[in-house]
Amino acid sequence: MASLFDAVALAPRDPILGLNEQFNADPNPAKVNLGVGVYSDDNGKLPLLQCVQEAEKMMMEAPKARGYLPIDGIAAYDKAVQGLVFGADSDAVQAGRIATVQALGGTGGLKIGADFLKRLNPDAQVLISDPSWENHRALFEGAGFVVANYPYYDAASPTGVDFDAMLAALDGAAPGTIVVLHACCHNPTGYDITLEQWSHVIATLQSRGLVPFLDMAYQGFGEGIAEDGAVVGMFLAAGLDFFVATSFSKSFSLYGERVGALSVVCESKDAASRVLSQLKRVIRTNYSNPPTHGAQVVASVLTIPALRELWESELAGMRLRIKQMRAELQAKLVAAGVSQDVSFITRQKGMFSYSGLSADQMKRLRSEFGIYGVDSGRICVAALNTGNIDAVVSAIVAVSR
Ligand code: LMR
Repeated sequence: MASLFDAVALAPRDPILGLNEQFNADPNPAKVNLGVGVYSDDNGKLPLLQCVQEAEKMMMEAPKARGYLPIDGIAAYDKAVQGLVFGADSDAVQAGRIATVQALGGTGGLKIGADFLKRLNPDAQVLISDPSWENHRALFEGAGFVVANYPYYDAASPTGVDFDAMLAALDGAAPGTIVVLHACCHNPTGYDITLEQWSHVIATLQSRGLVPFLDMAYQGFGEGIAEDGAVVGMFLAAGLDFFVATSFSKSFSLYGERVGALSVVCESKDAASRVLSQLKRVIRTNYSNPPTHGAQVVASVLTIPALRELWESELAGMRLRIKQMRAELQAKLVAAGVSQDVSFITRQKGMFSYSGLSADQMKRLRSEFGIYGVDSGRICVAALNTGNIDAVVSAIVAVSR
């Protein structure tokens, strides 16, 4: 008898998380995982932040029963997210014009927004940067949208971005097009546009009637919490309706807790409450309501001044170590005599460096040296450390010859 599943095709491995599976199965003792965007400390360990431990200690001292959370999550968490992302004193927060829901990581925030937009405007096209985080396309296509690219990366430009082409593409987009933008620390390239360029993007989005969807997964990993979030203030000042997906996976090193949020900035309090009611429908029919632990930790850290201060300094520590690894990678490649210009490594921001290595070179790094990066050439500089950087440098030199 034929089985229902005979026609099921084997899906390809996920281009990022699939690498983890391959990495874990690799017996090479010298293997290095520069694939997934995860920060590890100089000992190669995933940190458990002190601020998180303090918050958990406080939670253990006053243990609480675990009832269902409201569909939109912990109210204090949603409020803390708004304060962090938009500024507690901002007009939009004060006026109650932002609908914020707790989500399962930044990916969950994107998915809630995508499903909501599909119900609202089913025929809209989605534009993502070329290239973008691999999951952006899959996620919006999964929600039923047609997804196309706007130009972004330009290897020949010292800024790494073909800004004129990007702007022209946005200017030619049909009204209602959903435009996914990286608020900071562009994934995968590490090249951000300047605030001046953002002002042109915002003016174009506004004049064309496009729908901005900011993905902010790396706030604090570029130049600082306020600096990396500055673009959000510019969107607020322009008076646009827009979406922001927030992730605390990286900035709190809470990857497995799935702590994120979606915020939708609306023109009025009334619009925000209607939007919120629809976001809750999307959540209820997907996973009913979110989990408690991680969001409670983040809410405590963001709202208790001593813990907040500790978090900011721990986040600064991660940011500075990444910058130091960038500088060392660049210097060591130069010292090893690579012929290519590698000065881009310290110009890029956030966890990643778009190395310019080809898919074949990335495969050689993996098979010959046990060094895992994404086939696009993206490597996670946040996973470099003083113990593995020399091996990574010599492997890159070997495949670059
Ligand atoms: C990445 O780009 O590596 C991270 O955002 C992790 C993920 O989910 O892909």
